[in-house]
Amino acid sequence: MSKSYYLTTPLYYVNSKPHIGHSYTQIACDTVARFLRQTRSDVFFMTGTDEHGEKIEEATIKAGFKEGEEKKFVDGIVPVFQGLWKALGIEYDYFIRTTDDYHIKTVQAVLDRLHKGGKIYKKIYKGWFCTPCETFWSENQAPEGICPDCKRPIERLNESNYFLKISEYQQWLINHINSHPDFIKPYFRRNEVLGFLKEELLDLCISRPKSRMGWGIEVPFDKEYVTYVWFDALINYISGVGYPHDMERFKRHWPADVHVIGKDILRHHAVYWPIMLQALEIEPPKTIFAHGWWIIKGEKMSKSKGNIVDPADIISRFGVDPYRYFLLKEVQFGMDGAFSEEALIARYNSDLANDLGNLLSRTLTMVEKYFGAEVPDARESVLRTQEIEGLKKKALAIGGEMEKRLPEFDFVGALAAIWEAIGMANKLIEESKPWALAKEDKKGELATVIYTLLEVLRITGMAIYPFMPQTSQKIWFQLGMELSPQETAYSVIKKWGDLKPFQKIRKSSPLFPRI
Ligand code: MSP
Repeated sequence: MSKSYYLTTPLYYVNSKPHIGHSYTQIACDTVARFLRQTRSDVFFMTGTDEHGEKIEEATIKAGFKEGEEKKFVDGIVPVFQGLWKALGIEYDYFIRTTDDYHIKTVQAVLDRLHKGGKIYKKIYKGWFCTPCETFWSENQAPEGICPDCKRPIERLNESNYFLKISEYQQWLINHINSHPDFIKPYFRRNEVLGFLKEELLDLCISRPKSRMGWGIEVPFDKEYVTYVWFDALINYISGVGYPHDMERFKRHWPADVHVIGKDILRHHAVYWPIMLQALEIEPPKTIFAHGWWIIKGEKMSKSKGNIVDPADIISRFGVDPYRYFLLKEVQFGMDGAFSEEALIARYNSDLANDLGNLLSRTLTMVEKYFGAEVPDARESVLRTQEIEGLKKKALAIGGEMEKRLPEFDFVGALAAIWEAIGMANKLIEESKPWALAKEDKKGELATVIYTLLEVLRITGMAIYPFMPQTSQKIWFQLGMELSPQETAYSVIKKWGDLKPFQKIRKSSPLFPRI
């Protein structure tokens, strides 16, 4: 059996509702997964929820539940995440919860194996601890008692815990990063990790005494402790595909092709995770791709700042596809982006209403007016202008651009290639003046222009499928296609003249009414 293309999102903490940052990773992964399903068959896209640890314990109490009722609390929140993913059209193959039985067993099996292998030891920990980040810091790393990551005050700790010997693997990891240029993307994030690895790597604390925090997976060799939430959560990437209970399945998916994450959790994924795997003698993932943050009025979104944007609210007002489009087009994947409704509306009106929506409605209006709502027969092209040949070439190049750019998460580049063709098609309408051709009764030339526009719509309609699945289907439906882009072999994107003459179009309401 061939190996799947396996891609993952982080597991989201279920301490509150999902926001635009979470939806961003989902939409990016869904877009790549949809594209890969179009072009190859075996894609495995996994997402889920991170349900243990202090954050969840605190949120449980805050929500009015009692200690010990954490599971009841998270059971209420998980459906909110799943409901939003459904509304956003996220077609994942599997949803993992860290409270799932088999996951708990895997974490315990991993702990046992590492413990027996002499990779885990117990010692007294004295140092700083940041509760919100669930991270330990040494005296050197946080001399002022402020968390180097989130800049909040941190606490002193003095307790016995279990540690994983990650320091042993520091040089191995540096070598691995240097010899695998695709391991950390975008490229500039590699240097950040290598910079971090210039300092001595401290062994990773992987337990919490139950006396301080009890909501976690019990350490199998010491019932007084639960597992550190990050150690537990990272293991999802292997437990979710069968490790160690179904090694056949595991081999079909592992190594992961890409873990998509936000830049704030790069260290966990690019340092701790590969070392954990190496200690288990499991291959590292092929790529870790870190995206940037969505910033609201100059600040990272956070509950304490009260600047959370609720995706459910945005899509109820602007629609799912415009939201997906905006997030993927507004900034290069990997960089930070500023989110505002004004920016979303501006993009909606210019790219979606003016460029794409208008092209479809103008073209179909002309098909109705001049050809009785049937695709004109232009097999014998009587018009070979530079504009038409250039546009044809541009449209036929889209498939190749997508193949090159989407596996690299270059959404901006892929969309730019699509919109170039859309722009040229709109220009063709202005310059060829079909209404004048009709007046002069130049039927053949008119048919060629209209057929060219329809073909561009067929091709771009298919190309936007991974980004805006609903719009893509609507376009093909209005063109009178029998099947949807999803049901059609991807290769037609590179074929000119696939639209059948005399096919009845189905013009309906505008795709994107102006806001
Ligand atoms: N539970 C951990 C991940 C464990 S993965 C084994 C976690 N969860 S989280 O819910 O806090 O964050 C999940 C993801 O959301 C992270 O990738 C984070 O970068 C992303 N985002 C949170 N806020 C964000 C923005 N404002 N913008 C973009 N993404 C951001 O970390």
